[in-house]
Amino acid sequence: MSEGLVTISYIVATILFIKSLGGLSNPESSRQGNYFGIAGMAIAILATVFGPKITGLNSLLTILVCMTIGGSVGVFAAIKVKMTEMPELVALMHSLVGLAAVLVGYANYIDPTTGFSGAEKTIHEVEIYVGILIGAVTFSGSVIAFGKLSAKISGKPVLLPGRHFFNLALLVGAIVLGKWFLNIEEISAGILPLALMTGLALAFGVHMVMAIGGADMPVVVSMLNSYSGWAAAATGFMLSNDLLIVTGALVGSSGAILSYIMCRAMNRNFISVIAGGFGTDGGTPAASGSAEPQGEVQPISAADTAELLKEAQHVIIVPGYGMAVAQAQHTVYEITKFLRDKGVEVRFGIHPVAGRMPGHMNVLLAEARVPYDIVLEMDEINEDFPHTDVAMVIGANDIVNPAAQEDPNSPIAGMPVLEVWKAKTSIVMKRSMASGYAGVDNPLFYKDNNRMLFGDAKKMLEEVLTHLKG
Ligand code: TAP
Repeated sequence: MSEGLVTISYIVATILFIKSLGGLSNPESSRQGNYFGIAGMAIAILATVFGPKITGLNSLLTILVCMTIGGSVGVFAAIKVKMTEMPELVALMHSLVGLAAVLVGYANYIDPTTGFSGAEKTIHEVEIYVGILIGAVTFSGSVIAFGKLSAKISGKPVLLPGRHFFNLALLVGAIVLGKWFLNIEEISAGILPLALMTGLALAFGVHMVMAIGGADMPVVVSMLNSYSGWAAAATGFMLSNDLLIVTGALVGSSGAILSYIMCRAMNRNFISVIAGGFGTDGGTPAASGSAEPQGEVQPISAADTAELLKEAQHVIIVPGYGMAVAQAQHTVYEITKFLRDKGVEVRFGIHPVAGRMPGHMNVLLAEARVPYDIVLEMDEINEDFPHTDVAMVIGANDIVNPAAQEDPNSPIAGMPVLEVWKAKTSIVMKRSMASGYAGVDNPLFYKDNNRMLFGDAKKMLEEVLTHLKG
């Protein structure tokens, strides 16, 4: 394939990637967005593999073998992973992008065929240095994020004394080593500052993510997503591959925008997320007294829940992480359909950080064929709760916690939440009084107009459906 044809293919792939991102921004067009992405990636791979830079049958065979191994691992992981484990998988994939940037950087540095001199050589070495730096931070940070998300490492923030000075020292160290590296002529001598900097960058990645608390993990995942994009862009510079630069920049900037959206949804400042320290283990009550149950709750049976729903005219369903764990979305759909057929208005309220990944609830509801037009964002539906007869909370906790508004000392103070307690009756469906991801108690449970339907979400919803139909 000629250089010109490769350039044209890269431009087509770039357009497809941009269209893919556009498509993914809306549930209705997301499937099409995915197809654009697949087509773009197929064109990019074909143009690269059959382009002028790959010469000889041996190189081609090596690439095909590696692609088969990598592709098989990817297909296996995608089939095997549970929807609730998706953030862990994504973190692991980000770590691979980081590792690739580091390895490409070293390979590029020791490659004797590049033959740069003068200013060109300096620019090339800066690309290598920065690429390895970003790659190593992304790699170690993502490995720690994987450990935290999969509960292999405690979600508690690890706050070293003088940690900001430690970070500053690492940054100064990286700059000093960079200066040393650029002044060295011999490749064999340059490896030393490069290796030392890699060590510093790896330590920085570990330290940065270790200091971030469990409750801030959504931001960390999208931030590492952004880093992995910049690592890919850096690799693109090292390999003089325009498509990799553009694609990396697209991922880097969209990840940065997503981090900003996540921060806004949690009322957190990006800098304070990076500075770390907020949040607890996740899933278990926090050490502070705030996670202890603070009152009496009023349980309700599935039969009584069905009665309330039958009498209601306006119902809002708020799904959360528990709906994903119980895989209750199909039963939710059955109940929705039944009520809508009876003339009840049923809508869904989706919090931007409900579940464990961006768009988690939208994906599950779309899978269960819930119509898109009744699935509304938090800001679109929040003011309708006072005119709602029943607000049904299915396996959600933090995103409906009134303490975010009422208790300035709460760890989630200021986080926007769905105001389900303003409905005539709210029903919370969960298995126990355990706290949610942020590890804080939820005063909603003790409100006079709230009822608790204890049990596995799928099992309880099936019982409710049976009573509705009966
Ligand atoms: P959570 O606050 O984590 O609450 C989920 C609740 O579901 C738990 O209290 C749990 O109570 C219940 N549950 C678990 N399994 C269940 C089952 N089988 N049946 C019924 N209930 C079940 O979830 P949320 O309200 O969706 O809020 C999301 C939280 O995760 C936020 O704090 C957010 O910051 C964080 N987070 C979000 C993301 C993204 S990007 N969305 C990523 C990482 C973290 P029981 O144990 O009593 O049943």
